Amino acid sequence: MESLTPEKFRLRSFRLRGERMTKAQSEALLSHWNKFEIPLQGEINPQEVFYGMKPDEFIMEIGSGMGEATAQIAAARPHTGYIAVEVHKPGIGALIIHAERAGIRNLRIIEGDIWEVLTQHWIDSSLDAFHIFFPDPWPKRKQSKRRLLQPAFISLLAKKLKPGGRVHIATDWVPYAEEIEKHFASSADFKGGVIPRPEWRPLTKFENKGLNKEHRVTDFLYTRN
Ligand SMILES: C[S@@+](CC[C@H](N)C(=O)[O-])C[C@H]1O[C@@H](n2cnc3c(N)ncnc32)[C@H](O)[C@@H]1O
Repeated sequence: MESLTPEKFRLRSFRLRGERMTKAQSEALLSHWNKFEIPLQGEINPQEVFYGMKPDEFIMEIGSGMGEATAQIAAARPHTGYIAVEVHKPGIGALIIHAERAGIRNLRIIEGDIWEVLTQHWIDSSLDAFHIFFPDPWPKRKQSKRRLLQPAFISLLAKKLKPGGRVHIATDWVPYAEEIEKHFASSADFKGGVIPRPEWRPLTKFENKGLNKEHRVTDFLYTRN
């Protein structure tokens, strides 16, 4: 029998939603996926995936959702190598539509679970920043173990960042914000805390829905020692 590794026990941080895509999303994937895809195999070094360009820095966005913020941030920083990781294929299709419309060339996308990406494929000390905007809040008490930002994951982020690398986080779920603050405070790898909303972070439909329900949004910035 296959042995059960810690990864096998780990609870998924995402809900498996339907893979149904709009016609435009499947057409976008069909026509352009090969320009954006980083295949999830072997060892991945960000220096080697932006053919024809030499990015000033590398930023990975975890959970790019429908890609609205992703495309705007990548377009605003053409010299950054921007890598989006997402498990939800229709969201990837939507991101490609935005990226193609804006003529973005400094974006690469990985379809996969961030745990697998970081533990099995991504090389250490190679990223300048992570963007984690509105990670699934898992609001029910018994589901809170599924939250992404927990101590083991925070150590993994530290391992993949260069010294001085940044983690930008936003959440609209106050109990999650409190947990994030507590876990980072007890990590020896990072310093930082709550910051005002960065003016470069675009408003997404997901955030807007929360604001309409009067959720309070907290932004964090942590820097790796
Ligand atoms: C609540 S949505 C927020 C999306 C987007 N960042 C925004 O602000 O609109 C969280 C996203 O994270 C993705 N996600 C959750 N766990 C993930 C994982 N382990 N690996 C990759 N993506 C994940 C989900 O599929 C979902 O699209």
